[in-house]
Amino acid sequence: MTNGRISAVRLGDAGPEVGVQGLGCMGMSFAYGPTDADDARATLERALELGVTLYDTADAYGVGENERFLAPFFNAHRDEVVIATKFALAIPPDDPTRRIIRNDPPYIRQAVEASLKRLDVDVIDLYYMHRRDVNVPIEETVGVMAELVREGKVKYLGLSEVTGTELRTAQAVHPIAAVQSEWSLFSRDIEAGVVPAARELGVALVPYSPLGRGFLTGSFANAEKDLTAGDFRRQQPRFTGENAAANAGLLESVRTVAEAHGISLGQVALAWVQQQAQAHDLPVVPIPGTRKVSRIEENTAATRVVLGEQDMTLLEPIAAQVAGDRYADMTFTSAGRE
Ligand SMILES: NC(=O)c1ccc[n+]([C@@H]2O[C@H](COP(=O)([O-])OP(=O)(O)OC[C@H]3O[C@@H](n4cnc5c(N)ncnc54)[C@H](OP(=O)(O)O)[C@@H]3O)[C@@H](O)[C@H]2O)c1
Repeated sequence: MTNGRISAVRLGDAGPEVGVQGLGCMGMSFAYGPTDADDARATLERALELGVTLYDTADAYGVGENERFLAPFFNAHRDEVVIATKFALAIPPDDPTRRIIRNDPPYIRQAVEASLKRLDVDVIDLYYMHRRDVNVPIEETVGVMAELVREGKVKYLGLSEVTGTELRTAQAVHPIAAVQSEWSLFSRDIEAGVVPAARELGVALVPYSPLGRGFLTGSFANAEKDLTAGDFRRQQPRFTGENAAANAGLLESVRTVAEAHGISLGQVALAWVQQQAQAHDLPVVPIPGTRKVSRIEENTAATRVVLGEQDMTLLEPIAAQVAGDRYADMTFTSAGRE
């Protein structure tokens, strides 16, 4: 598979043009075990050469560490990159190990200033509400986000882990460019509510964890056995115990498709997500995360893979058979709100 530049797409009616695949930068500082800063920096540069322009971070990734790590890269290429960051996961004053969700206007104002400072930029291109605090009306939250646009601190707005109803309410306050939610061969709950609402409203979908946090590539089969201490996935229900064994068995059909096309399992997973753009008639810009040059080359090449009807049929039943929830604590997700 060749390493040409990827194509571009508009990120929803209200958004900028971006490469059709973005880069998830979370793992460069957080959640997925030890990182090598030089490898991560080389990955960022290679991604840009390959036409990746949407770079995804959040203030919560390593308590600001990820934003600080990315700042020199963003500043070296300010006009070529679309910087996406997020607010909402706050540290409660009484316990620095815990996270709470905050969507109230004073918190957002404080969070945006902190992100601008860490990123060392005048404006954030795409600012997401990372999680929804159900105690704050979404109109109020998006209202203050809209003020940030008018004040020139933010260019475009996004929402993560919202329901279709919440997206509709938000869009009535200010145009939303993108919804970021988990979407992959293993996680398809958003197809019931958010995806139809996004299509109707002209909002793009930015699937996070499109590789099922790496599990869909076949690079690990059991997080407790295969991943290092401190890796977030060692606590997640899909990747441990009996669930992990059952879920590893589901990769058989992914392997069959991969062999038929002469590509990797990860490329099948990414091509499947990308093909949801046609299946649901809306812009889709997945943000697979990697810290390795060889993998950014492999992942971007997947944007040119076209799966046939037979492949899609073989892959169709997987999500319904996955054992275990997406997170150990599902209260931090949009599940059950619609
Ligand atoms: N909005 C939200 O709530 C939310 C939640 C989670 C994530 N995110 C965002 O979404 C991005 C992507 O999600 P994610 O990182 O959780 O999951 P992912 O993209 O599904 O998978 C990332 C994992 O797969 C590995 N990987 C990547 N390419 C590979 C390849 N070609 N072959 C084998 N392994 C490969 C990576 O390892 P290496 O890094 O070592 O290559 C990493 O461990 C994050 O970086 C973050 O920006 C958002």
